[in-house]
Amino acid sequence: MLNETLKVIENRRSIRKYAQTPLTAEEKQTILHATLRAPTAGNMMLYSIIEVEDQALKDQLAVTCDNQPFIATAPWVLLFVADYQRFFDYYTFCDVESVCHEKGIPPRQPAEGDLLLASCDALIAAQTAVIAAESLGIGSCYIGDILENAEKHREMFDLPRFTLPITLLVFGRPFVSKDENRLTTRYDQEFVVFQNKYQRLTKEQFISMNESAAARNFPNLSREEAAITLGRNNYFRKFVADFSIEMNRSSKTWIDTWKSGPAKE
Ligand SMILES: Cc1cc2nc3c(=O)[nH]c(=O)nc-3n(C[C@H](O)[C@H](O)[C@H](O)COP(=O)(O)O)c2cc1C
Repeated sequence: MLNETLKVIENRRSIRKYAQTPLTAEEKQTILHATLRAPTAGNMMLYSIIEVEDQALKDQLAVTCDNQPFIATAPWVLLFVADYQRFFDYYTFCDVESVCHEKGIPPRQPAEGDLLLASCDALIAAQTAVIAAESLGIGSCYIGDILENAEKHREMFDLPRFTLPITLLVFGRPFVSKDENRLTTRYDQEFVVFQNKYQRLTKEQFISMNESAAARNFPNLSREEAAITLGRNNYFRKFVADFSIEMNRSSKTWIDTWKSGPAKE
């Protein structure tokens, strides 16, 4: 049986067409308040949220995030930044380096683990915002393509060295036609949830994992051929697509800047 919270989770879907009614200040405040209640590693809140209010910035994002025009039409846009800069600046303000020298402990700078932890914090906050918005009847959509174009995005939002814009969220009241009113499917639990140890999938499991989509798309092929054709299409549409190549180039730029020094301190 679904309680009210589970109903909100069950019926959420990504929303890409918006009624142009703006969100009220109270709605935004309610969502932000809930977002900041998200769990956070060591209660350090290793993230920042940038409200993108300037229409010119939204228009740019619609281009730099793999040409997705609906971004520019979203009434509310939030950039979630994995952020060790604030805490590292705080440590600097506290002159931790002098204390390290006194104690004989080598000081250090934010590194890979800190980046991953800050990314966890930012994403957990983002999903909390999604669910809070949904509970108010406000739809949302993640924009993973914010990981592309590191140099442009760093410049657009003035992002310092120990930050990384891990995701963008766009919000708005749903403007939905009937055929868009469907939930997307998910893989069955048996392919995703394991007991005690990781399980690599077998050939037969790959065939049954995608069976209904494969049969719908390629009704004239055998089960196995349909599964293989679907997987190949996915590979070429996503994995080796230009946006994916750019995302990996750009992400390396963010990581390299954390590791080896500034594009901007
Ligand atoms: C990390 C992440 C990145 C995403 N990036 C995009 C995006 O750039 N553009 C888009 O339209 N949807 C994006 N989505 C939304 C997914 O396409 C969507 O969640 C998925 O198809 C499942 O549909 P549902 O959210 O309606 O259940 C993204 C979702 C996640 C979690």
